[in-house]
Formats: sequence, structure tokens, C-alpha cells
Amino acid sequence: MTVEIWRGDRTGAFQAFEVARRENQTVLDVVTEIQRGQDATLSYRFACRVGMCGSCAMIVNGRPRWTCRTRVDQLEAGPIRLEPLRNLPIVKDLAVDMAPFFDKWRDAHGWFEPGEQPPQDFAVVAPESPERLEADAGIECINCGICYSACDVVSWNEDYLGPAALNRAWTLVNDIRDRGQHERLGAVSGDAGCHSCHTHMSCTEFCPKALSPTLSIAGLKRATAKHAWKRRR
Ligand code: SF4
Ligand code: FES
Repeated sequence: MTVEIWRGDRTGAFQAFEVARRENQTVLDVVTEIQRGQDATLSYRFACRVGMCGSCAMIVNGRPRWTCRTRVDQLEAGPIRLEPLRNLPIVKDLAVDMAPFFDKWRDAHGWFEPGEQPPQDFAVVAPESPERLEADAGIECINCGICYSACDVVSWNEDYLGPAALNRAWTLVNDIRDRGQHERLGAVSGDAGCHSCHTHMSCTEFCPKALSPTLSIAGLKRATAKHAWKRRR
């Protein structure tokens, strides 16, 4: 098969390679075969190869996908075209700089805040409580950046926190042990926060873990409005 791969950074060109088809071959297998057998200077990123680490995401035939879990026989016939994720600076070839993506997690207060005197014992959180169900629905994010790459609002506004950071914030808003809600709800309600989402749903369409950042963002819109209303009273 023919594989066309982006070479360069912001400027560059596609380079074509020929690779043998094999049974159960993933797109990541193809890239690795090219890098090991044809061009050792090809840059890309992966770690786990089993859908856990989120590092192997690329644009495959125009769609962002996790390449270790995308089999070649699932793709449409014809050449395979590989590009780096969109909306992130390209380091080289298929490797992007993820720093802006993770900076947004920090900006959205995407960390657990235990408070000044956290209880010594384990917290008991009922499995069927609405908060637990909401938190569980978004917790399996693997930080692959696919939703961020697919998001039109991120393309228009580079300050927009983006679907993954907002999804993370929503899981924490629903964590009844967390003591940082005031700061977090403030952080996600600014100009670059949840209210900028246009509900295009590309994040939900492409998320390989079948999460719905769109629903999380809708939850944040309600929570921030309630929070602002309470503060006025
Ligand atoms: Fe990837 Fe889904 Fe997490 Fe976005 S929400 S970073 S697409 S796992
Ligand atoms: Fe870890 Fe693909 S290499 S998710």
C-alpha cells in the first residue's frame, strides 16, 4: 500500500512510502515499519500500543484517530494519508507539541484540590449518586488530544480551554471530596471557557474512548450559571 506522510513542521510536504499489507496491521504498525525499515528520521510518538497512553494520535485520512487502535483494514481503500494533529504546534513530521493542550488543563483547574484539612479516612461516595455517575462518565480520558484537534472553536480561538480540559473540570466539579470548586468554576466561566462552546460535537464524534465532552461542557454551563446566581444573592 501507499502511505503519504507529512514531513516537516509548519512548512513541508507529503512523502510517499510503499509498505506491505499484513494481517491485523494497525496504522501505528505501518508508521513504525517505515521508521525502522525505510527512514529512521521519521518523527512520531507512541508508548503503550494498547489504547492507554493517548500518545499515538494523528490525522489519518483527514480524521483524528488513535493509530494503535486503528486497523488498516478499517480504512477506506486507497492510499493512507497521515498528518500531525491539528490545533497544536508541529515539532516535526507527525509529532506535535502537547504543551498548549496540557496548559489548558492547568488553566481549567483540572487537578484535585483536597482542601486545607482533608479527612484522614477514605471518603465514601455512593456508586449510584448523581455526582458519581457524572464524574465516572468523563473519567476515562487518556489525554490523546483528539477532541482538541477536532474542535473548531480551538481553531478560531487559541485561548479556548477546549473539550478535554473542560471535561476534566466537570469530573472534578462532581467530585464531592474536592474543595476547589469556587476557583474552578471561575476558571472555566471566562471568555475562553465553557460558554465559548458552539456545541458542534466534533469532540464527542471523534473521542476514541466514547466520552462526551459536549455533555460535560453543557454541565459546566449550568454549574457556572448557578454559581454566579448564588454569588449575586
Ligand atoms: Fe482524547 Fe476523548 Fe480525552 Fe479528548 S476527551 S483527550 S478525545 S480521550
Ligand atoms: Fe498508547 Fe496508542 S500508543 S494509546
